[in-house]
Amino acid sequence: MSTPKRLRLAAIGCGSRTFIYFEWAAKMPDHYEIVAAADHNAARRAKARALSQNPAFREFNNDVAILAEPRLADIMIIATQDAYHFAHASAALRKGYDLLLEKPIATNLPEVLALDRLARELGRRVLVCHVLRYTPFYRKVKEIVASGALGRVVSFEATEGVEAWHQGHSFVRGHWSVTEKSTPMIIAKSCHDTDILSWLVDSPCESISSFGGILHFRADQAPAGAPARCTDGCPAAATCLYDAHRYLGDQKRWLEVIFDRAKTATDDEIVAWLRTSPWGRCVYHCDNTAVDHQTVNMNFASGATGTFTMTAFSQGRDVAIFGTKARLLAGERVQRLAGAEIVIEDHATHAIQRVAVDLDAGGGHGGGDAGLIRMLHAEMLKPRAEDMESSLPISVESHLMGFAAEESRRSGRTINLADFKARLGRLT
Ligand SMILES: NC(=O)c1ccc[n+]([C@@H]2O[C@H](COP(=O)([O-])OP(=O)(O)OC[C@H]3O[C@@H](n4cnc5c(N)ncnc54)[C@H](O)[C@@H]3O)[C@@H](O)[C@H]2O)c1
Repeated sequence: MSTPKRLRLAAIGCGSRTFIYFEWAAKMPDHYEIVAAADHNAARRAKARALSQNPAFREFNNDVAILAEPRLADIMIIATQDAYHFAHASAALRKGYDLLLEKPIATNLPEVLALDRLARELGRRVLVCHVLRYTPFYRKVKEIVASGALGRVVSFEATEGVEAWHQGHSFVRGHWSVTEKSTPMIIAKSCHDTDILSWLVDSPCESISSFGGILHFRADQAPAGAPARCTDGCPAAATCLYDAHRYLGDQKRWLEVIFDRAKTATDDEIVAWLRTSPWGRCVYHCDNTAVDHQTVNMNFASGATGTFTMTAFSQGRDVAIFGTKARLLAGERVQRLAGAEIVIEDHATHAIQRVAVDLDAGGGHGGGDAGLIRMLHAEMLKPRAEDMESSLPISVESHLMGFAAEESRRSGRTINLADFKARLGRLT
């Protein structure tokens, strides 16, 4: 058997995502060699170097420095924060790299479409990090739907429970709280869902409507006397779900992704850090504009329709798919109630089939992080770029659904996706 081609990986942005990808890639030395990374932060570069397990690993201070070099790798991982994706991805494409691009593709639809055009013009491959596609769970659901076991898909309902603490951490206090500086919630968190749902239905989405807003994380919901920061002596601290002091205790793993010294700092040092950091703020007194609940109604070319609900106040993803022969229920709730990840009920016989999925693929996102890196090699070497699974052209369509949902939520109108794409495409 011939040895597979080793793909050289480099990264712009050494945060939690690049660390995860480097960690998994380093475990697959037949497929990958990690050669370089760029970040302003020396400690993060050092961590990337350590994860690379490559003595010849090269460090750069930023995107400009790494891109000033001749092409160093086959694939550039773009894992800076959302607002930089478009600039960093465009520059890396022009330099000759194929990309592993973190979602979102860009923070607005005109830039999403422009990046797609650039990649096509240059003939480059871009795989978008829609990690859920690479989980054993969703691959099994896809296999069942594609097998025809459910008959024709008529409708679905799906939910994503962000979970209250996660909402507070990421979408009230954190990077994605002010949508004007990052992306709307339906893109920042739920572009995974529009991607997965359109993949399962296997038909283009034609129109969308959406409702949602901020119901809880706002000043009029604050406990009486709550100060601007948890570190300022809040009278509700003992009972508040969002007390920032939990970063020192049961929520410490969240601290590790935002504070480089989380593992070594003393409690006093962490409290001192919380006094000035965004993550020490009272969740009821932030500048957040990201919604804490949203529903989306979708109409597909096949005639199928579906609903999706994102809420801060549930946990995990659930999906129910209703076909002409059977219905499928899958996800966290089903797992808890039925002891299997997927349950199928036949309409004719009412026979119930439980399908267990081996979720032990390791790593975050239900095995999707590891699955993505496992598949990246094969995806990049597929003879035809159009056969790549979460390619840029395919991901553009599910981003389009998210941006259209946001347009609908804001305007109160139903959005026709073709018209929306044509209108926004003209802006670039
Ligand atoms: N696929 C997923 O499921 C998933 C999950 C979480 C986050 N994300 C996305 O991944 C991206 C990265 O998230 P993260 O949590 O790793 O972010 P992070 O903030 O931990 O890391 C980003 C890094 O980029 C560096 N950086 C900023 N400007 C730079 C420049 N000009 N040159 C080089 N480095 C620069 C920062 O110093 C930082 O270390 C975000 O866009 C986020 O939305 C995706």
